[in-house]
Amino acid sequence: MTAWELSFEGFDPDDEGRREALCVVGNGYFATRGAAPESVADGVHYPGTYVAGCYNRLTSRVADHDIEDESLVNMPNWLLLTFRIDDGPWFTLDSVELLSADQELDIERGILLRRLRFRDAQRRTTRLVQRRFVHLGSPHLAGLETTLVPEDWSGRITFRSGIDGRVTNTGVARYRALDGRHLVEQGTREITPTTVLLHARTSQSGIVVAEACRSEIWLDTAKAQPRRTLVREENLVAHDLEVTVRQGQRVRLEKIVALHTSRDLASTEPIAEAEASTREAAGFEDLLATHALAWTQVWARYRCGLSTDVRARRAVNLNLLHLLQTVSTHTADLDVGIPARGLHGEAYRGHIFWDELFVLPTITLRTPHLTRSLLLYRYRRLPQARAAARREGFAGAMYPWQSGSNGREESQRIHLNPESGRWLPDNTHLQRHIGIAIAYNVWHYYQATGDEEFLGSYGAEMILEITRFFASLATYDHGRDRYVIHGVVGPDEYHTAYPDTDRAGIDNHAYTNIMTAWLCRVAADAVRSLPADRRSELIEQLRLDHREFDRWRRMTRKLFVPFHDDGVISQYEGYNHLAELDWDDYRRRYPDIRRLDRILEAEGRDPNEFQASKQADVLMLFYLLSAEELRAVLHDLGYEFSGEQIPKNIDYYLHRTSHGSTLSAVVHAWVLARGHRARAVEFFDRALVADLDSRDGTTREGIHLAGMVGGVDLLQRCFAGIEVRGGALRFDPHWPTELGVLELSIRYHAQPVLVRVSGRTVTVRTAPGPQRPPIRCVCGSQSVLLGPGETAHFATDRPAEQQQTPPAAPADEL
Ligand code: BGC
Repeated sequence: MTAWELSFEGFDPDDEGRREALCVVGNGYFATRGAAPESVADGVHYPGTYVAGCYNRLTSRVADHDIEDESLVNMPNWLLLTFRIDDGPWFTLDSVELLSADQELDIERGILLRRLRFRDAQRRTTRLVQRRFVHLGSPHLAGLETTLVPEDWSGRITFRSGIDGRVTNTGVARYRALDGRHLVEQGTREITPTTVLLHARTSQSGIVVAEACRSEIWLDTAKAQPRRTLVREENLVAHDLEVTVRQGQRVRLEKIVALHTSRDLASTEPIAEAEASTREAAGFEDLLATHALAWTQVWARYRCGLSTDVRARRAVNLNLLHLLQTVSTHTADLDVGIPARGLHGEAYRGHIFWDELFVLPTITLRTPHLTRSLLLYRYRRLPQARAAARREGFAGAMYPWQSGSNGREESQRIHLNPESGRWLPDNTHLQRHIGIAIAYNVWHYYQATGDEEFLGSYGAEMILEITRFFASLATYDHGRDRYVIHGVVGPDEYHTAYPDTDRAGIDNHAYTNIMTAWLCRVAADAVRSLPADRRSELIEQLRLDHREFDRWRRMTRKLFVPFHDDGVISQYEGYNHLAELDWDDYRRRYPDIRRLDRILEAEGRDPNEFQASKQADVLMLFYLLSAEELRAVLHDLGYEFSGEQIPKNIDYYLHRTSHGSTLSAVVHAWVLARGHRARAVEFFDRALVADLDSRDGTTREGIHLAGMVGGVDLLQRCFAGIEVRGGALRFDPHWPTELGVLELSIRYHAQPVLVRVSGRTVTVRTAPGPQRPPIRCVCGSQSVLLGPGETAHFATDRPAEQQQTPPAAPADEL
């Protein structure tokens, strides 16, 4: 297996769900699980197609509560393709003897290949090859090609090819008590003798989806004229296509699919658009070629070459593939965010959390306009966030922990512990730190791109309104002469209250408080960065007065931060008084303690009682802020924090974390990279393959996108130390030699830049091209200006050399 293919031998029903998620094909507009085309949701298979931004709400009665949930809707299944030989049964994996089976995802070209050889009850042997893609260049199109070869028989084959609207959202066992029937008012029609269409509406959000498919058959290379019969069942439409085949002859069915919804731009209405798309679409091979070309172009920007072992290289490629299938240039106009589990399954119902914090840096370094559009998803939901703050008696904007269609809080208020079968109150929506993550993303996008227009029109307003919210969340404690923040939840979701109290949330959560102080500083910087006219407009518009600015300034000096006696930052006030968990005992008794909260609850205990964290929490500070930045924030707050305290903090929390979120490995790799290279590489490896290697996790319900991309990001921003700050592209490599050589291309101020890192050396090469202002590259004390087509070599312990590479030949000479 190369680093550009992911293959699976045989058919393993227990692993099928995970393979389906790992073999998703998509294009940022829609994505489809790697489910077998003949399958339906049956506990083993789960066909799922999800369109970015297509949410619907349903109310269900659960544990004596009426719960309204918003979910990313599982759309009609366009894969539907099966066949029968003579008058035999329709093909399913159960109805035949499987002689061989394998499946391969072509990571470079986004194509899923499936090969089977089987014998049926009449002892006839048949080979089947299927290829599918969701077109990366034409976002509404997909294709599925099925080739059958009768090895030892001749006879009739009837294919059934169509669209199945009988799907519901039942992909996650824990949610099955909730209603999952989102599609209503389905209609079907035959558009032409080769094309059928199914349309449906989502029950509450009223999104109309239309899917059409054109099915044609070839016998060897000749187009066949099959006998066609229209099949119309309730919420299903298909054509049966019957042909006669001879032994050894190849019969090939091309299914070209178009998917449109009423959320599309440049559209009259989805039914007419789907009709037109299928009518005008090219054939399978042509579409495959343009699809592959689109991938070549995307990889030119996103490729991240490593010279280490093939396993790690494959994981890097696969993780980037899934990023680009979830968000692409086709996402840019859709007004959507980054769903935590991709467009790959139904876990977390397609909701958007803080996970973009781990994903956006990789996008910003390559396609910054996409980051901009993903941030605009948040900007458009500023009114909702303001209303949410107002409703709770706060000022500014309180962004929801889980977001979907319109920015309402979508977090569940009760959740099922599958270990105990109990429905429990859920306070995780108190993760107010989501607002800080959004402000951080805005500020870092601005730092990386210098996009002043964005900052002026949208970014500063978000930062100011979020700061305003945190300033009103904080109260002044006279006894302490400090600002305090009560009743929140941090990234560690095991601690949502103090033990034995009814009050939700915890107090003076260190990450929240310190980042609030950081935010108050950034708010001032953001205002200062605006042109004078825009600054006064915004201040006027938001009715900001000097009292508010004064309060923010005071907060940078007086927010309270809890510490343990030995200088360890306390996760929150009182964390150090909680009981210590006997980790060895739990590790002995349970094969997997990542979801320790569920284990403890099932044992009748409360996770709030223990110094045991789900994921990096205090350590997030070292992930997001440089040591100097953190020291400066704490210094202004009146707390001295020396470099030596960092390892102490890391050590303390490392021993008290169960890594119940894939994000935890990313953060731990990052914070260990300077001091414990080997352990950092271990965590890096864990983050990189969390979905790829986990057979017992929840990957079947969707990939963990932020863990996947955060893992790749470790290579560039952590180990290679690439940073965009202060008008320069900076390198501070702590490169683990066991990872070989890193080669990637990024964009800095619209200039393509090739970076090569190996051991202690960094080579930076700018693409040749039109004259542009030179860019500044900095490594340690060395700083060079690079114009187009120039190269700089840095060694972390020797001065930079600069050399000119010959300019590229003008295009007309090539
Ligand atoms: C983690 C959160 C994360 C969410 C979605 C949870 O398990 O605790 O930090 O945002 O998953 O990925």
